[in-house]
Amino acid sequence: EKEGYEHFMIKEIYEQPGGIDKTLNRRLNKEGTIVLDGIKLTKEDLDKINKIYIVACGTAYHAGLVGKVAIEKYAKIPVICDVASEFRYRDPFIDENTLFIAISQSGETLDTLAALREAKRKGARILSVVNVVGSSVARESDDVFYTWAGPEIAVASTKAYTTQLTAMYMIALHMGLTKGTLSRERYDEIVAELKTMPDKAQKILDNYQIIQQLADEQFNNESVFFMGRGLDVEVAFEGSLKLKEISYINSFAIAAGELKHGTIALIEDGTLVIALATQNHLYDKMLSNIKEVKARGAYVVAVAKEGNEEVEKTADKVIYIPDTMDELTPILSVIPLQLFAYYVSVARGNDVDKPRNLAKSVTVE
Ligand code: F6R
Repeated sequence: EKEGYEHFMIKEIYEQPGGIDKTLNRRLNKEGTIVLDGIKLTKEDLDKINKIYIVACGTAYHAGLVGKVAIEKYAKIPVICDVASEFRYRDPFIDENTLFIAISQSGETLDTLAALREAKRKGARILSVVNVVGSSVARESDDVFYTWAGPEIAVASTKAYTTQLTAMYMIALHMGLTKGTLSRERYDEIVAELKTMPDKAQKILDNYQIIQQLADEQFNNESVFFMGRGLDVEVAFEGSLKLKEISYINSFAIAAGELKHGTIALIEDGTLVIALATQNHLYDKMLSNIKEVKARGAYVVAVAKEGNEEVEKTADKVIYIPDTMDELTPILSVIPLQLFAYYVSVARGNDVDKPRNLAKSVTVE
């Protein structure tokens, strides 16, 4: 039930600190080591794996894009991230040294399930990140990580995504430590920072009025652009999907460096651009991209980390998220975008929890 919230979506957005906390903290032992009961990958198994495919649809795919970056960074195994409907018809390179990771909230998405079966047939080991216990994807996997997000009712996925991100970081950290490609010291630092995510997420939620106000000003736009660099691109994709599916605004996400290869032609006076600028090592580059779109008349709302105030000089508005490591920002930076999509949808009078043409679980092709 909605427990006093107006929609399931906003209730589920507010359940994120709790979901992240549960997914993470119940799997940490006294020494602060991640214990993955449902995953039996030993050092020997991991040393054999020379390639990983992460396959999913929609929002779960966007979580996979972040997972790819984390696994490559911590476990030093090349990762290919693919949408399930493409993967299954691609005749992918798979053998017994391949690990296939499926991500699915429902565990019943037909394309994801078919992709999993195809990978299994070719000899891959199957690991899945699933929210629904006992679902088809979970049952057909060798290893399972359950995101303990609780039931997700709203069609637009929110708490499933942030717990999927948490899961992917944990799997990547576990692999890196087991393989020895990540030092214990660095591992401990990242786990300690992950533990701060629930409180930091809560802080963003406590400041929802800033975003509600922005939505009230901007809900009449016909198109919205999201851009970023590095991990901010993956979050831009998710923010854009969230907005379009419940607001029906034509939204689009792009790697900011790609702008001048075509898309900048669409920027005109007043075009709303949401610029994610959370990555310290790419901050200056993002500032230049913001200037590029500003010069063509865009109205720029930036998302930045507290402490990186320089963006105020260029952007029209800045939404701050609490400071954290560059590599963990997606868990936080997506939250203002979810809130924005929600309040825009409300302002437009849409059926927030049941957007037109969409189903919660896509069990047809
Ligand atoms: C978007 C959304 C969808 C799902 C996708 C996969 O908000 O909810 O894009 O993420 O249909 O569903 P699952 O995770 O159940 O496989």
